[in-house]
Amino acid sequence: MATIPRTARFAARTSRLRASTIREMLKATQRPDVISFGGGLPAPELFPAREIGIHTQEVMQSFGPAALQYSVTEGIPEMRGWVARRLSMRFGVNFEPEEVLVTNGSQQGLDLIAKIFLDPGDHVVLENPSYLGAIQAFDSYQARYLTVDTDIDGMIPESLEQVLAHAEPPPKFVYLVPNFQNPTGRTLSAQRREQIVRICERYDVPIVEDDPYGELQFEGTPAPALISYDSRASIIYSGTGSKIVAPGMRVAWLVMRDQEIYERLVLSKQAVDLHTGTLAQYVFHAYVQSDATMNDHIATIRRVYGQRRTHMVQCLEEFMPDSVRFNRPAGGMFLWATVEKPGFDTDELLAVAARQKVMFVPGISFYPHRDVRNGMRLNFSNAGEEKIAVGIERLAGAVRSFL
Ligand SMILES: Cc1ncc(COP(=O)(O)O)c(C=O)c1O
Repeated sequence: MATIPRTARFAARTSRLRASTIREMLKATQRPDVISFGGGLPAPELFPAREIGIHTQEVMQSFGPAALQYSVTEGIPEMRGWVARRLSMRFGVNFEPEEVLVTNGSQQGLDLIAKIFLDPGDHVVLENPSYLGAIQAFDSYQARYLTVDTDIDGMIPESLEQVLAHAEPPPKFVYLVPNFQNPTGRTLSAQRREQIVRICERYDVPIVEDDPYGELQFEGTPAPALISYDSRASIIYSGTGSKIVAPGMRVAWLVMRDQEIYERLVLSKQAVDLHTGTLAQYVFHAYVQSDATMNDHIATIRRVYGQRRTHMVQCLEEFMPDSVRFNRPAGGMFLWATVEKPGFDTDELLAVAARQKVMFVPGISFYPHRDVRNGMRLNFSNAGEEKIAVGIERLAGAVRSFL
């Protein structure tokens, strides 16, 4: 019998899977003496743990076995209705429950999108830098990347136009995080949103609008969601309960008007996991269905994260040498710092910083072509203010030891 050599055992699509710096780092951050700005963790003290406990009991009493039974792939009707209602309220345009697909985290949504669109070698358009989890998801479908330049106002429409005009083969979709982007904390300006929608409409390229942080806005007014524009472009909006309730519940949603895309996503999800956990959906819904509760809860998250952001910025101003530049995001969980010194490599910095017991994510992981080395992503949502001050002072010491 012929056998497959061990080297050829795994599918080609697994060849680009790398241990994620972030996941590896999460392991190190379990140590209590390490201050981590590395992971993308929400503040656990703000999880509505008591309420989720109460709702779990209530759900079991009211729904009993139904909450433990198999359910439909699209998501329980209560959840789809809630998502449609909340987005209609936030974005001022009408969404229908039939446009909502409940997923197991928005990370699954990204995987499903890649699964239905990407053949090996297909092009995806990304911001530069981009969310690492999206790059990982697309990597496993052997995507190739076309990167669009960004500045403090997010993706630059002229750069997108250039990329689309010259792309061969044309890209399957454009992926972007318009609000308080992971990793940079930058927000796409309102004016650019419409421009980007119109450009994609002209080139007939679908848009994947990944928006985990839109509700975590500390100041200013929200810019319109790309999906709220009246457009012929196929736009897939991705939202999640991870940052507004708790990531461990793995309840998230994709929303789109394009029925053809919707149906393929549903069939793909069916093949992956049949449906998102029924109990998690019922309990999640029981908690979020009261607008007053949700609005109060989100107001608390905004206040606490806003204070932590301000504090981190103050500490950076106080401790960092002049060659370190950083922004002051108006929301979300991350800020972006760069060391303006030729050849500076934040991967090397991390090794020194780790010895000083402070962690961050080196910027290189977020560049699809892994070609920019002087950036770092700093998370400000997870550590309290005291730890932020100690951690930034340690990090500044590590930076100085290199300069
Ligand atoms: C931009 C972005 N998209 C998606 C995710 C995945 O979130 P989840 O799968 O918890 O919904 C994250 C998590 O950090 C993120 O930052």
